[in-house]
Amino acid sequence: MIQLSGVVKRFGNIVAVDGVSLFVKPGEVVGFLGPNGAGKTTTMRMITGYLVPDAGRVEVGGIDVVRYPEAAKRKIGYLPEDNPLYEEMTPYEYLEYGAQMRYIFGEEFRKRIKDVVEKTGIGDVIARPIGELSKGYRQRVGLAHALIHDPDVLILDEPTSGLDPSQIVSIRELIKELSREKTVILSTHIMQEAQHLSDKIVIINKGKIVAEGAPDELEKLARGEMIVHVITKEEKFKDILLKNGFNIIESRKVDNEYEFVVTSQSKEDIREKIFQLARKNKVVLLEMWKERISLEEVFLKLTKEESV
Ligand SMILES: Nc1ncnc2c1ncn2[C@@H]1O[C@H](COP(=O)(O)OP(=O)(O)O)[C@@H](O)[C@H]1O
Ligand SMILES: [Mg+2]
Repeated sequence: MIQLSGVVKRFGNIVAVDGVSLFVKPGEVVGFLGPNGAGKTTTMRMITGYLVPDAGRVEVGGIDVVRYPEAAKRKIGYLPEDNPLYEEMTPYEYLEYGAQMRYIFGEEFRKRIKDVVEKTGIGDVIARPIGELSKGYRQRVGLAHALIHDPDVLILDEPTSGLDPSQIVSIRELIKELSREKTVILSTHIMQEAQHLSDKIVIINKGKIVAEGAPDELEKLARGEMIVHVITKEEKFKDILLKNGFNIIESRKVDNEYEFVVTSQSKEDIREKIFQLARKNKVVLLEMWKERISLEEVFLKLTKEESV
């Protein structure tokens, strides 16, 4: 549905996007996650046909964006970073203007505006000047504008930045809702947002993709080994674990319970072995759980490694 191959963009001496290749399937929601200056906006502007790459190819729905930017734009709804809106216009006028630019008039326009107003929940503010609206509503108007021509693809650049916490929650919900019908690429520098909204996360740093995958795949990738916490009342279990080839990276005693943090070099699931070992030695395990690495750690690790 969206395909980038070896895409490069330079601004003078700066290589903003440095050989990005990416495939996005129809209906997929992909989160571009990366620190400021990583190249997210530049990549999105090339996908939407507003910037021409210095090298590489960009295709949307089988259309070469560089050769046929107008045809590609018909398939794409774009919410740019800091969503530029005309303050004096009302949302109605702004949407009408957006529709006209896409040659949508008359009955078709009435159908489309009804649909997008309903989807984005801007009915109550449709006749008020945009300048008077809250940032949350402005973002909804921006989304309505991006949706007016019913595109297959939505490109949303930092859609929740600058919003207050409750607005963030409602815009995320709206995006989640919209993403059921569309192929979406959104950018964010917030890990939790990428994790919450995306099927696939693409971590970008210094113009390059440093990792991509489903949120839980990325977590696995960063860890490589398994970390298991074990709680028991029996101190001797520590020696038993050590004798059986496990590493204990931490142990602590709370009241009369011991917590051992166990790892193993192998990538296999060690919980079963620990359980069998406890049973064989008649050690009662009170608790055992696998540590989950947060995507935040993955993100920090990957972006740090790349920047050395
Ligand atoms: N129009 C431009 N002119 C010069 N440099 C730019 C321009 N747009 C972006 N850059 C530079 O390209 C790099 C990537 O920027 P950008 O794509 O905006 O990153 P992000 O959206 O991830 O924060 C940055 O170093 C930025 O300063
Ligand atoms: Mg940006």
